Amino acid sequence: MTTTESVVANAFGGPEVLTVIEEALPDPGPGQVLLELRAVGVNPIDYKLYSGAFGADESRLPIRPGIEASGLVLAVGSGAVGAAGPIAVGDEVVAYAGAGAYTRRLALGAESVFPRPQALTWEQSAGLLVTGGTAAEAIVVTGVVEGETLLIHGAAGGVGSLAVQLAVAKGVTVIGTAAAANHDHLRGLGAIPVTYGEGLEARVRELAPSGVDAAFDTAGTDEAVDVSLALVADRTRIVTIVSFGRAQGEGFVAIGGGNPDSVGIREAGRLGLVEAAARGDLDVVVAKTFPLADAARAHAELQRPHPPGKFILIP
Ligand SMILES: NC(=O)c1ccc[n+]([C@@H]2O[C@H](COP(=O)([O-])OP(=O)(O)OC[C@H]3O[C@@H](n4cnc5c(N)ncnc54)[C@H](OP(=O)(O)O)[C@@H]3O)[C@@H](O)[C@H]2O)c1
Repeated sequence: MTTTESVVANAFGGPEVLTVIEEALPDPGPGQVLLELRAVGVNPIDYKLYSGAFGADESRLPIRPGIEASGLVLAVGSGAVGAAGPIAVGDEVVAYAGAGAYTRRLALGAESVFPRPQALTWEQSAGLLVTGGTAAEAIVVTGVVEGETLLIHGAAGGVGSLAVQLAVAKGVTVIGTAAAANHDHLRGLGAIPVTYGEGLEARVRELAPSGVDAAFDTAGTDEAVDVSLALVADRTRIVTIVSFGRAQGEGFVAIGGGNPDSVGIREAGRLGLVEAAARGDLDVVVAKTFPLADAARAHAELQRPHPPGKFILIP
């Protein structure tokens, strides 16, 4: 038995509902490992869960945000085997936690734990699995191949930055929407930047005279959807991770949101992401780090214009 400090939401509302609690943590059970976390990835889903965006059923409280982290193995339960093989005390790992990673120490199923890619820092490693898995699924579903052109909305964000890299590595021409301040960041990743907002469709047409083959929407705005529908002839090659309602009504593709197909594709892809990062083929851009206890500030800032890349909490 050990103790940990965790950040939880005891009510629905804005980031101010987050609070730090001290709690006991039992020894890892069969098939589990206990980690001492070094860094925790912040994702928009973390604040959406307590914001009321998915309902405000009080029986779901307290909500324990945090789905990804990096850390050191402190203890290994009986029969625990990691996603890439045996795990030992002292191993440096990355974890897809699913929930509850806003904490110092975390027990979870060993199958969700991967060797930490040494080419990345602790902070970068903590931000790889969720955005990377989402981006990788989107690239698969758009079906883009070498020589094609892909439009990515919100290309400088956590998911967007990984999607740009995965597509560019396949020889795809990527046009990415971003605020002007993030255009250099996109150029550095190999994308052609374009500013979102009025006139976007015309600007993209000018950049892609032979057309856009597929689109990936991480922004969820009507503009992103409308421009994608106007530019991409085949709606099965327009993929969103936000505009679920419009996708259902207008015949394009939404991925994630608990869809079993998405869960399977992402689970199967995580080891490949870790291996690509270990080879130095994938970079995770860290926008900003915050102490774990400042999770509320991180959530508030993530919902406003912010530097490109991932927000990371340091326990
Ligand atoms: N369905 C799923 O499985 C799944 C998985 C992961 C994430 N998501 C969702 O996907 C979204 C993006 O996640 P993320 O982690 O990449 O968030 P993020 O790091 O905050 O990135 C979002 C990006 O959107 C851009 N943006 C803001 N306003 C925009 C606009 N009007 N038009 C175009 N782009 C705009 C911002 O770029 P600038 O700074 O350049 O303005 C920002 O970098 C979130 O809503 C998240 O909940 C869904």
